[in-house]
Amino acid sequence: MWAALLPVGRDPGDGGYHRFSWTPAELDCRAWFLDEARRRDMPVERDANGNLFAWWHPEDGARDGAVLTGSHLDSVPGGGAFDGPLGVVSAFAAIDVLRGRGARPARPIAVGAFAEEEGARFGVACLGSRLLSGAIDPARARALTDADGRTFGDVLAANGLDPDAIGPDPGLLSRFACLVELHVEQGRALEEPVGVASAIVPHGRWRFDFAGEGNHAGTTRLEDRRDPMPPFASMVLGARRAAERNGTVATVGKVRVTPGGVNAIASSVTAWLDARGPSDEDVRRTVAEVERAARTAASEHDVAVALAEESYSEVVGFDHALRDRVVKALGGVPVLPTGAGHDAGVLSARLPAAMLFVRNPTGVSHAPAEHADTEDCLAGVEALAAVLDDLAHG
Ligand code: GLV
Ligand code: MN
Ligand code: MN
Ligand code: MN
Repeated sequence: MWAALLPVGRDPGDGGYHRFSWTPAELDCRAWFLDEARRRDMPVERDANGNLFAWWHPEDGARDGAVLTGSHLDSVPGGGAFDGPLGVVSAFAAIDVLRGRGARPARPIAVGAFAEEEGARFGVACLGSRLLSGAIDPARARALTDADGRTFGDVLAANGLDPDAIGPDPGLLSRFACLVELHVEQGRALEEPVGVASAIVPHGRWRFDFAGEGNHAGTTRLEDRRDPMPPFASMVLGARRAAERNGTVATVGKVRVTPGGVNAIASSVTAWLDARGPSDEDVRRTVAEVERAARTAASEHDVAVALAEESYSEVVGFDHALRDRVVKALGGVPVLPTGAGHDAGVLSARLPAAMLFVRNPTGVSHAPAEHADTEDCLAGVEALAAVLDDLAHG
């Protein structure tokens, strides 16, 4: 099952994945999901927001109070193989384990694949789960654009979904008793094969738009320039310094320079800041300091700067009772916080949620070197099966 997914959207050069929602590679991942569900006789539901759910309704079990598991199939640009797909593959594999043992859960188990988790195409992370849980205004979501200027609404319509129907779905959510998402650990914090998440730190994304004036690189005197690049550079350095000062992390990993000519002063620069830290105050202070650095440099260069918050997620403390139950079902495993965002974090506002992490020996993620050893992945499947078995009977 893993082997079928592995080549999809993989760059043959550096091995990085490019699976942006509703692009051919991600649609192939969705086709793979439907296929895996069909092989297991699990009916699939695509909700109004483009999230997929494959259902195991045991014959003699209740129809509601389902245990939801799964993760996402989309990737960041040049991402690793495990971030997202490991949770979906492990969910199907855990169901195979349970069925192989003749388990007869008292409640349904659903495998979910959430849309646009990385926000790599439309900018807002966990868009599918945010819409489902009512954490983003549907009108705002519809109007989000990709790099080619296509709106999320248009892309949904092109894929057979009604853009006017997106948004919270309390009916669907009410069918789930809880969620357990398995995910590759994304740093070096987990030293055992499997761990359980305690919390997700506050994190967000901000867009900085620097507007200057395009002109000739050779003939425009320095004093006549309105070059947006120096203030952009100050913003990048300001992010590093602000993070150091506040005990946070701040990253500028994406920038768009217009028009992008070697011999032309840029007319505008758009840059995205990702900031995360132990508390809301630390993150907010970091962003305020980056903004100050950008504004000071922009005024020195006669450049306009505008700042927009694209998304923000407050600290997530996963449900204690569920977490304790998961840890108990696993006979005691490490419990650790993470600096990475997840659909389970978003959905934890609506239902008890927990996460299992699988060890990542490289400590690298969102890059091709992201890794999990096969034995650890198998331990993850066994752990998820044990947790699902426990929860589906409680
Ligand atoms: C998503 O993986 C994120 O943490 O940005
Ligand atoms: Mn990710
Ligand atoms: Mn992920
Ligand atoms: Mn994530």
